[in-house]
Amino acid sequence: MSLVLSSEKAQSGLKGSIRVPGDKSMSHRAVMFSSLATGVSRITGLLEGEDVMATLAAFRAMGVEADGPSNGNLIISGVGMRGLREPENDLDMGNSGTAMRLMSGILAAQNFSSKLVGDESLSSRPMRRVTVPLTSMGARCATDENGCPPIHIRAVEKLEPIDYKLPMASAQVKSAVLLAGLYADGRTTVTEPAPTRDHTERMLQAYGYECKSEKISEQVTKVSVNGGGELTANDIDIPADISSAAFFMVAASIVPGSDLLLEHVCINPTRTGIVDILQGMGADIRLTNEREIGGEPVADIRVRYVGLKGSKIDPNLVPLAIDEFPVICIAAANASGVTTVSGAEELRAKESDRISVMVEGLRNVGVEVEERRDGMVITGGPIKGGEVQSHHDHRIAMSFAVAGGVSQSGVKINGAEAVATSFPNFVDLASTAGLVITQT
Ligand code: S3P
Repeated sequence: MSLVLSSEKAQSGLKGSIRVPGDKSMSHRAVMFSSLATGVSRITGLLEGEDVMATLAAFRAMGVEADGPSNGNLIISGVGMRGLREPENDLDMGNSGTAMRLMSGILAAQNFSSKLVGDESLSSRPMRRVTVPLTSMGARCATDENGCPPIHIRAVEKLEPIDYKLPMASAQVKSAVLLAGLYADGRTTVTEPAPTRDHTERMLQAYGYECKSEKISEQVTKVSVNGGGELTANDIDIPADISSAAFFMVAASIVPGSDLLLEHVCINPTRTGIVDILQGMGADIRLTNEREIGGEPVADIRVRYVGLKGSKIDPNLVPLAIDEFPVICIAAANASGVTTVSGAEELRAKESDRISVMVEGLRNVGVEVEERRDGMVITGGPIKGGEVQSHHDHRIAMSFAVAGGVSQSGVKINGAEAVATSFPNFVDLASTAGLVITQT
């Protein structure tokens, strides 16, 4: 069933206080670690989006008992590191790259076989980036001949540790190797070429598993774990997802008269590139009430309207805002002057090819944009409006809903059901804040 969103020019600014749903990366990891822990874990603030539900369903299919989720609360009775059962059917990861890549790290170490499958979008995403390092640890796993899902995993008795240099800045690949490393016979080390989200490292510690990070230089970090340990059950409160808050940061920055407070947002420094990029474009964004919750920094974020100006985005900020580029493109389209995005070729390997899909959509709504191999050049100006396709990508759909709020004639988004993967109540919350979005 295809859902269509129609987003109209907002008549007044975005106002009030809202809390967007729980962090997607943390929600996946909380379900995984609680399932593999010894004892009962209580999760609050869980994102109940389709992606996280795919992870939960996979653990249930392997014998994990869970009560919920309801209103973000989920209680999981962990089965211990070696307590999973062979699933009877293929494990369907839906649209979620995080679920598929992190699960392959865990499943590659089990003494039973499994097969990971996904939807049309996930089935065209690169998976050799995980099967290659896992195979060098002794795992028996394979993708299809194009390097895409399904991933077939066969039983192993044990894994060998590796010292792995990530060929790209990817928290999913880093995490897959570290999770397999929990089962390896010795110390597994991953070296990342640039800082990527470190929720796996932080959450392992929160579940009582030692994980060491050592900064080698400004960009390079080495992360290591010793195999053979145990995870201990934990009560975890998941803050709001900055990647979901980002749609409102941009909307409030570009809709005249806005003054919006985004509550309880995770501001882990590996995720705050969006704040730096928008501030670099002149945005009025302030972090208030900063505190620490469950090993992660959290703040309320106040955003007030101010006309944005184009900027040359620092490529070093790309991994720190990797999921926010679709909506950053909307900010750039509405800004005065030219914005250049470079060093962002990884955007082509997301839920859609986010460079070509954003270029197509921006042109459809009347924005001048030049496509580059590793980014794009956007000339800001009035957004006329028009019709776009989500290409099964939640963040593309929500970004164009934000564009509609400043468009002359409205933006129609086809395939908007994808929003449910990460932000099921997006339309309601956006309407509460002051965006005029209808669904048909
Ligand atoms: C994620 C890592 C990022 C990000 C994704 C979530 C994670 O992917 O785009 O939405 O939870 O580890 P990559 O590791 O492919 O950059």
